[in-house]
Formats: sequence, C-alpha cells, structure tokens
Amino acid sequence: MTLFVYNFFRRKNRRSTVLKVMNDEDFIVSKTDLKGRITYCNKIFMDMAEYSEDELLGKPHSIIRHPDMPKAIFRYVWETIPTKHEVFAYVVNKTRNNNDYWVYANITASVDSNGKIIDYYSVRRKPNQKAIDLIIPIYKKMVEVEKSIGVDASFNVLANILAEKGVGYNEFIISLQNQ
Ligand SMILES: Cc1cc2nc3c(=O)[nH]c(=O)nc-3n(C[C@H](O)[C@H](O)[C@H](O)COP(=O)(O)O)c2cc1C
Repeated sequence: MTLFVYNFFRRKNRRSTVLKVMNDEDFIVSKTDLKGRITYCNKIFMDMAEYSEDELLGKPHSIIRHPDMPKAIFRYVWETIPTKHEVFAYVVNKTRNNNDYWVYANITASVDSNGKIIDYYSVRRKPNQKAIDLIIPIYKKMVEVEKSIGVDASFNVLANILAEKGVGYNEFIISLQNQ
C-alpha cells in the first residue's frame, strides 16, 4: 500500500522530459576559460538551457552535461582543442528543468597575438535530424562500452566506424550534417 501511494505521487509529480529543437537560424554561443568554466553565453544559450546568466557564469560547462553523452567524445574534445585544431560534434544537452536538446557544435581555441590560447569558444547550430538518428545508436553503444569496459574501448567504437568509412573524425561529422 505504502509503495502504491509513493508510486502514485511520484508518477503524478514527475514531469516528462521535453525534446527541445533549435530554430533554423539560431546560434548558441558560449566561451570558457582554459578549464572549461563558462565566461560568456548568449541569450539563446540561456533560453535553451533554461538557466539565467548568473547561474551560468563561472560554472563548469558540464552544468548542461547529459548522461547519454559518451565520455570519450569530451575526452577527444579536450585532447584536441589545446592543439588549436577545431572539433565538430553532435552533443545532447540537459536543461535546468531536465529537458534535452541536440546541437551541432564547433569548438575552437581563441589565441592572442603571440599564438597563446586565451580561451575556448563554441558555436552551435541546429543539427541535421538524419545525423542525430545515426549518432544516437553510436553514442548509446559508446556509453554501454564505457560502463562495461572503459573510455578507450568506447572511443574505438567510433574509431572503427571511421576506419571502415576511411574518413577522419571531423570529416565524418561534417558529412553527416551536410547529407
Ligand atoms: C567551449 C566549450 C564548450 C563546451 N560545450 C559543452 C556543452 O555544450 N555541453 C557539454 O556537456 N559539454 C560541453 N563542453 C565540455 C565540458 O567542458 C565537459 O568536458 C563535459 O561536459 C563533460 O564533463 P565531465 O567530464 O565533467 O563529465 C564544452 C567545452 C568547451 C571548452
């Protein structure tokens, strides 16, 4: 009986997750310091993530991390951007109110006149739905492999797909967006 009452109230009070979709013409922009703490975000970022500027500035970017995102993707991002190479990635984010939204992200380093990295910058656009349909099962497999084996093995899931197609990581991601 107690369990029934508990489940009844839990079901009643649980809000289901909404999958939010970016507008065609929108850009979600943010900047971080070298440790990934947010130093700037535009209004569209705040609207999509459902946080105020005060709640975001100074916080780690992982504030909007979604559990369906493989760790291996972020590890690849953090290994690549300090080398001043850009990264393209499909990322699903979690909003303050537990809603989800997918983005097609470009992440780069900004450098000063001496070529020293001063911060990181990301611009996201609406992703191609066909790309998301293809990426979802890949990320699902990667997350499963991360849980059972580890992050290296998870990245190999993606590396094997790239090897089969004979393409590099960014090339693959960009081709999915432009299909
Ligand atoms: C410029 C920039 C933008 C980022 N944007 C996101 C983002 O939109 N969502 C996200 O989950 N992580 C983003 N990250 C990666 C986070 O810093 C972090 O690596 C990721 O959320 C995983 O966090 P965790 O390692 O604490 O699990 C971004 C990093 C940088 C440098």
